[in-house]
Amino acid sequence: MTETANAATATSGDKTRKRLFIKTYGCQMNVYDSERMRDLLTPLGYEPAEAPEGADLVILNTCHIREKAAEKVYSELGRLRPLKEEKAAAGGAMTIAVAGCVAQAEGAEIRARAPVVDLVVGPQAYHKLPEFIANVHRGRGEALQTEFEVEDKFDALAAPARQIEGYSAFVTVQEGCDKFCTFCVVPYTRGAEWSRAVDQVTAEVRALAAQGVREVTLLGQNVNAYHGAPPAGREADGPWGLARLVRHLARIDGLERIRFTTSHPGDMDDDLIAAFADTPALMPYFHLPVQSGSDRILKAMNRRHTAADYLAIIERLRAARPDIAISGDMIVGFPGETEADFEATMELARAVNYAACFSFKYSRRPGTPGAAMAGQVDEAVKHERLLRLQALLGAQQEAFNASMTGRRLPVLFERAGRNHGQIAGRSPYLQAVHCDGPDRLIGQIAQVEITGASRNALSARLVPEETRAA
Ligand code: 5AD
Ligand code: SF4
Repeated sequence: MTETANAATATSGDKTRKRLFIKTYGCQMNVYDSERMRDLLTPLGYEPAEAPEGADLVILNTCHIREKAAEKVYSELGRLRPLKEEKAAAGGAMTIAVAGCVAQAEGAEIRARAPVVDLVVGPQAYHKLPEFIANVHRGRGEALQTEFEVEDKFDALAAPARQIEGYSAFVTVQEGCDKFCTFCVVPYTRGAEWSRAVDQVTAEVRALAAQGVREVTLLGQNVNAYHGAPPAGREADGPWGLARLVRHLARIDGLERIRFTTSHPGDMDDDLIAAFADTPALMPYFHLPVQSGSDRILKAMNRRHTAADYLAIIERLRAARPDIAISGDMIVGFPGETEADFEATMELARAVNYAACFSFKYSRRPGTPGAAMAGQVDEAVKHERLLRLQALLGAQQEAFNASMTGRRLPVLFERAGRNHGQIAGRSPYLQAVHCDGPDRLIGQIAQVEITGASRNALSARLVPEETRAA
């Protein structure tokens, strides 16, 4: 680390601060990766910039999951070109890097199509960013770095150095996926399923808690497949599953809330369901994508579960933790989806009664089996189905939020609210909560009474006698 940092600093040729602009597309994993890239570049003198104008380094951290991702990146690169030229005309230099899943998937093509790009770096090589940037500055070296070298990625990334901006942090515990759902690019872009060791995760969460973080969300594309190396001295246990990891982290001083995302129904085990009952720090909110309610479509999607399997898991979760809020992901218009298949999706949504659910029109991802399937659904049909599904899911979310009115809930306050004198945070069920209250409660959990609800947020008043001190 030190060597590469020195090399890059030396090539900068001066000691002035450099400005770094990162544009993040897509999922929480990318948000997390962007933060780590920022941390990694801070020792080289890069300071965050709010806009690309005049920046010394611009990183587009891309997402490949849905259609037009690559086109969006190319049009952003088009907008960056004049900024790069302006900077050069003024005697400076703007380095442009494309990172993330589009970088992984499109690799060399990006450099060919957009010569404005200096560096293409895949998700497994971020720890080498300082070295790559040094190479670019030296005007030599390999500009394309997308090989999978997952083993040392997390070892090399520094422990989070960023000043705490919030009291809720994301920690990647697992990457990649072996499920190969036929619509999805993740197994190709993020590679094989892989878990971090329990001790590494624990050290990172402990450091975050010591800096004031009260809540962590454990991230992984297929997080409930987690099977990390056991802690030192516990080798005889063999790999630990997610439930054991959660219980272990729950003992960390100062850490009050744990969440995780995203899970696959096929990797649910009894122990994880039990953890929702026996671990109070594990929040009663669970994101479990189903994608479709039709067994025929689930089979074509290679999901390896039926609608009944999914509903049985939800039932067991609710038996373990009756107030658990369920969220999910749905896709409409997968190839071959008939009106009856779509109705099965609506039926499943009615049976689950989601607290929140994301829904998407199927989009053809080149290289995935779904893209080559017969029976691609007309765009207008997809659109119309999506509207019907979203009307149902929106009404469910609204009803779930409305059911909170009059209830007392513990809220983790994370920031000042939009209006003066207001603070904002999250309920155990991940709802945004706004409340009049003093700034000193930011970073703490306090009891509130819910006074109103909309589709996207709750309003509340503090319950003073129950407000917790530090
Ligand atoms: N088309 C539409 N939605 C998709 N998703 C993933 N790939 C596609 C695709 N090709 C959705 C899934 C997944 C979520 C992260 O994005 O619902 O769970
Ligand atoms: Fe993609 Fe999730 Fe399926 Fe893995 S389980 S292939 S990440 S949709």
